[in-house]
Amino acid sequence: MRALTIDSFAKIPEGLNLRDDWPEPSKAELKPTELFVKVAASSINPVDWKIAEGMLKPITTIPLPKVISFDLSGTVEAVGSAVTRFKKGDAIIVRLPTTDGSCQEYVAVEEKYVSKMPSNLSFEEAAGIPLAAQTALQSFDDAGLDPNADNSGKKAFVPAGLGGVGLFATQILKNVYGFQVATTVSTNKVEKMKELVPGIEVVDYKTTDYTTKLSDVDYVLDTTGDLANEAKIVRKGAVVNSIAAMPDPDVISKRLGPPPFYIRPVLRCLSWWQSRPLRSAGATYSYVWMEPDHKCLDKISKWIEDGKVKVVVDSVHPWKDAKEAFVRSKQSITGKVIIKVEN
Ligand SMILES: NC(=O)c1ccc[n+]([C@@H]2O[C@H](COP(=O)([O-])OP(=O)(O)OC[C@H]3O[C@@H](n4cnc5c(N)ncnc54)[C@H](OP(=O)(O)O)[C@@H]3O)[C@@H](O)[C@H]2O)c1
Repeated sequence: MRALTIDSFAKIPEGLNLRDDWPEPSKAELKPTELFVKVAASSINPVDWKIAEGMLKPITTIPLPKVISFDLSGTVEAVGSAVTRFKKGDAIIVRLPTTDGSCQEYVAVEEKYVSKMPSNLSFEEAAGIPLAAQTALQSFDDAGLDPNADNSGKKAFVPAGLGGVGLFATQILKNVYGFQVATTVSTNKVEKMKELVPGIEVVDYKTTDYTTKLSDVDYVLDTTGDLANEAKIVRKGAVVNSIAAMPDPDVISKRLGPPPFYIRPVLRCLSWWQSRPLRSAGATYSYVWMEPDHKCLDKISKWIEDGKVKVVVDSVHPWKDAKEAFVRSKQSITGKVIIKVEN
């Protein structure tokens, strides 16, 4: 079957291989808890090209060749005997566990990761949801934010509001949790950002230092690793989650297994050093590493069906241009870059 694999660690798109000879998972050997899915579309997240370019090599071993990416939308073709929530023909979305890849025609995936596709979206739009949206929501859970509390007086800051995570985080915080939300985008994205989240405070980070505009922020979801500047805008007692700073080795161990022993003290030191300004400012800090989970994805799908959250698509690329899609994903994108896997 067709697949896009990482054959060697190299600068995108050099190590990638668009092929027709990748082995299909066996429908006959489906485990009781698995679904057999025909992939319709896949979306790109930075972790995909970071893996392809060998950026995770110091902390974990990734055997090659490997199918690239983790996010997909598709149609269930068969279900294992213990599957309860899905049947043949259902449209689904999933962020695969790190052992498999989504840029291939068919996958076998455990039911616990899978969610029904929102009924108001196309396969291309829906493929953009899983990793980015779950990261946003799991960060809010990690921070103990409560959508049922009165958050109307509370301020949140999420930089890069039209990046993959930012677009979901800003909408969920404003439209579901009821926070006052501020974000940063580059100049030509300011109007698009205001259109997506009416009432949001938008700072053009290309022309304006956001630390001169924002203050007394209660919650930050850091998507850029800019912890030292974020420390200047938080109030004492604020909560800050990062998904883009240096992860602590304990967090890496939970998701990827323990990093090599000689790297651990370096990571611990860097993580501590980067987050020091936040602790000095009286904020509580933690790094969040997303873990796929259908319950989280179910909530997001419901908000999308209710019109509270929209998916922003930067571009949709046909299968033959899948490698070019990865080149695009490293440019100044607005929303999600999608690959059509099915013809
Ligand atoms: N820990 C986790 O589980 C987890 C999960 C998801 C993502 N991440 C990480 O989080 C980061 C963001 O991911 P993403 O999917 O949102 O990325 P993305 O979709 O690739 O978004 C990147 C966007 O951020 C904007 N940007 C870059 N630097 C900026 C800055 N200093 N201020 C404001 N905007 C800026 C760029 O827009 P302009 O060109 O217009 O500036 C770019 O389009 C990545 O490092 C990713 O690896 C981690």
